[in-house]
Amino acid sequence: MKIENKIKDLIRKSGPISLSTYMEMCLWDDENGYYTSNEVLGEKGDFITSPEISQTFGELIGLWALSFYQQFINKKHLCITELGSGRGTLLKDAIKTICKVTNNKIEPAITILEKSERLISLQKENLKNKNVKWISDIKGLSLEPQIIIANEFFDALPINQYVRNNEGWYEKKVTTKNGKLCFMLDNKIWVPSDSVFLDFKIGDTLEYSEEAISIFSNICNHLIQCDGILLVVDYGNISGIGDTLQAVNKHKFKSVLEKPGQSDLSSHVNFKLLKEIAVKKNLYVSPVREQRNFLLELGIKERLKSLTKNVSSSVAETVNSEVKRLIDPDEMGSLFKVIAITKTKRHLEGLN
Ligand SMILES: C[S@@+](CC[C@H](N)C(=O)[O-])C[C@H]1O[C@@H](n2cnc3c(N)ncnc32)[C@H](O)[C@@H]1O
Repeated sequence: MKIENKIKDLIRKSGPISLSTYMEMCLWDDENGYYTSNEVLGEKGDFITSPEISQTFGELIGLWALSFYQQFINKKHLCITELGSGRGTLLKDAIKTICKVTNNKIEPAITILEKSERLISLQKENLKNKNVKWISDIKGLSLEPQIIIANEFFDALPINQYVRNNEGWYEKKVTTKNGKLCFMLDNKIWVPSDSVFLDFKIGDTLEYSEEAISIFSNICNHLIQCDGILLVVDYGNISGIGDTLQAVNKHKFKSVLEKPGQSDLSSHVNFKLLKEIAVKKNLYVSPVREQRNFLLELGIKERLKSLTKNVSSSVAETVNSEVKRLIDPDEMGSLFKVIAITKTKRHLEGLN
């Protein structure tokens, strides 16, 4: 059955649905969900992520992880966890670099939190013969210091939206009108439990992802108990205000309610809220940096120089343009933000 019909059936039976229910059905429907049934990543898919654009991204994150481990984690194993690994490309480049610079003396123990069976198969292919285990729940993380990487993970989790008017917050829901899907505001006032909702203007929209908060809070608890670090790289929304939900199909923006299940749905990560949760738990939160500054400080230009030495001019041009995409302020350089959360204040490369 088409997802659109399943959604309409549900609305007919139980009334307007939350955006998070709508997103969950579009992204994860067993038969036709976006992540369940589509080739989502890469030039042929609907969107492309930094590690898929340039190998330098995974390589530099690998070096960053190694450096954190060597400075602050005095344990036998370098444990790296990735949240939502896509095709596993970031990890592949990171592991290769770590093994190379340590003369194979350090082989990271990898954990992947992944929900898509389809992507797990691709990750298994890409990370063949590596020390990798998969988990389906963040509570399954082993109790060791973990270097946890989340690139474009939190933006993929379902959100709810709330709109402020004179009387209070109202939830934006999905319903049907004349047989078509449309948005509506619920008629009940919604009372928030979180202080992030205290700072607002009339007309503001706030986005809140129960799933992101739950996974993030569990990671914070893991950091408190075991040490380690979480690195988040994502579309940024430092103020935490605004309607940022978007649908992308074949690298083009679409309407969120058009052809449910055929577009990627994502929203900007509310960095302000993540920061507030971590600070309340007495963790250290680095300043939020733009991806551009983070990668420049980690040495992306130097890596580019060595990659373009002794290659043809057409290869050098391609490699140059890939790196430009990651750091140019008009491309991913400014829109993408980076923060790290760790147990105590430390000098973190690229994030000072
Ligand atoms: C936008 S892709 C990013 C992939 C990868 N990090 C990259 O940079 O190429 C989001 C990834 O998160 C995974 N994902 C989404 N929701 C998830 C969840 N609730 N639990 C685990 N993985 C999830 C998707 O299957 C996908 O691998």
